[in-house]
Amino acid sequence: MDKPIKIAIAGLGTVGVGVLKVLNDNKEAIAARCGRSIEVCAISARDRTRDRGVSIEGLTWYDNPVDMAEDDNVDVVVELIGGSDGTAKALCEAAIENGKHVVTANKALIAHHGTALAKAAEAKGVNVSYEAAVAGGIPIIKALREGLAGNTFDRVYGILNGTCNYMLTDMRETGRDFDVILSEAQDKGYAEADPSFDVDGIDAAHKLAILTSVAFGCEVNFEGVQVEGIRHVSPIDIEFAEELGYRIKLLGITSRKNGHVEQRVHPCMVSKEHPISKVEDVFNAVVVEGNFVDRAVFEGRGAGEGPTASAVVGDLVDIARGLSVPTFSVAADKLKKLPSSPLARHKGSYYVRLMVLDRPGVFADIACVLKEHGVSMETVVQRHHAPDKSVPLVLTLHETQEQSMLDALDGIAKLDSVVETPRMIRIEDF
Ligand SMILES: NC(=O)c1ccc[n+]([C@@H]2O[C@H](COP(=O)([O-])OP(=O)(O)OC[C@H]3O[C@@H](n4cnc5c(N)ncnc54)[C@H](OP(=O)(O)O)[C@@H]3O)[C@@H](O)[C@H]2O)c1
Repeated sequence: MDKPIKIAIAGLGTVGVGVLKVLNDNKEAIAARCGRSIEVCAISARDRTRDRGVSIEGLTWYDNPVDMAEDDNVDVVVELIGGSDGTAKALCEAAIENGKHVVTANKALIAHHGTALAKAAEAKGVNVSYEAAVAGGIPIIKALREGLAGNTFDRVYGILNGTCNYMLTDMRETGRDFDVILSEAQDKGYAEADPSFDVDGIDAAHKLAILTSVAFGCEVNFEGVQVEGIRHVSPIDIEFAEELGYRIKLLGITSRKNGHVEQRVHPCMVSKEHPISKVEDVFNAVVVEGNFVDRAVFEGRGAGEGPTASAVVGDLVDIARGLSVPTFSVAADKLKKLPSSPLARHKGSYYVRLMVLDRPGVFADIACVLKEHGVSMETVVQRHHAPDKSVPLVLTLHETQEQSMLDALDGIAKLDSVVETPRMIRIEDF
């Protein structure tokens, strides 16, 4: 066997402790696969006294994790602190500078600074590995970058945030409101005290920006992701979606057309028959459309101690084996700067729910506004009749340009008989 590879772990929270457990419990299998053992030699966290539930005896403790980057014993720095800047970034940069490989689960860091880190790492001949940053336990980076490297991709999409998927599943099963489910999810520890990263789609957007880069060989462009979260999805929309044959999922979708990239994260209606509609609770899924492999669907746990640590250790095994591939599929200095396509130019079908006063002529007024903007209706559902009271009116619209849809909705919102802001959800016909 070759000499052991030595690693330093910064961050001993959910993921850091998980990595210690995997490396300990599967020590022999991992050593056999690598032809050498993977040994933790140093650790860092904020609170030195806290019991982590795992043995850290004999490991060098660093109060400041950035100092690990200068430890001559260390071959690989594993960054499991989090945050797009601050200590996590300083540590990764210092590690690369000192010729050490970096493994991280930090999607915010890679989404914001991935290109720069990749350039620095490749110039130094070290790896920056981040499998755990996208879809937790699903090895989607490896799949796109290696197993599917014979393909070109025009579209990759998926359920990239387990908290949102859990909440949407619960809303459908119980008919309860978003706020009730959110506070329950917070109590159970599925959602953070500040849930905005999850429910406003930012976490999914970080992951999508990374997937875009790997799939299309372009620089990571988080600012180019158009994001809308799930706060406005209500049980009534979920009920109508069911009736129309759809499920509502928060999806991240990246696609390439005419040299432009469209990156979007928003709630979508997807046919109940599509495999992604069957992915429920905290599970994630990623669908890849390759020009030779066709459609490949990956499903698994997107977060949590075990699945995330599994991905981190997968990266460590690659490094221990001496495997080195370009960070984002293509050499970092050859990554393209692809222009973003604005959502206003997106073409798609739409679900619209209006709350209207149930009186004669309302429907004709709405149809008139839609016609003015060249938007044509596919179906209309009005379940309740309550003369002069407010009732839901649901429309699905044929494929149209998003700007026309938005202009039509502006016009509809101004009608006297429309009593609430219209709700619009994009229908995806995958
Ligand atoms: N949790 C998941 O399921 C999951 C899934 C995918 C990716 N990730 C990513 O993995 C990373 C870690 O997540 P986590 O859930 O494990 O976080 P966590 O439980 O909050 O743990 C963070 C750890 O970082 C340590 N830390 C914070 N600031 C530090 C500093 N300045 N110096 C040294 N240590 C510091 C904390 O120390 P103390 O313990 O002493 O406070 C803690 O041990 C994040 O980038 C996250 O986005 C997490």
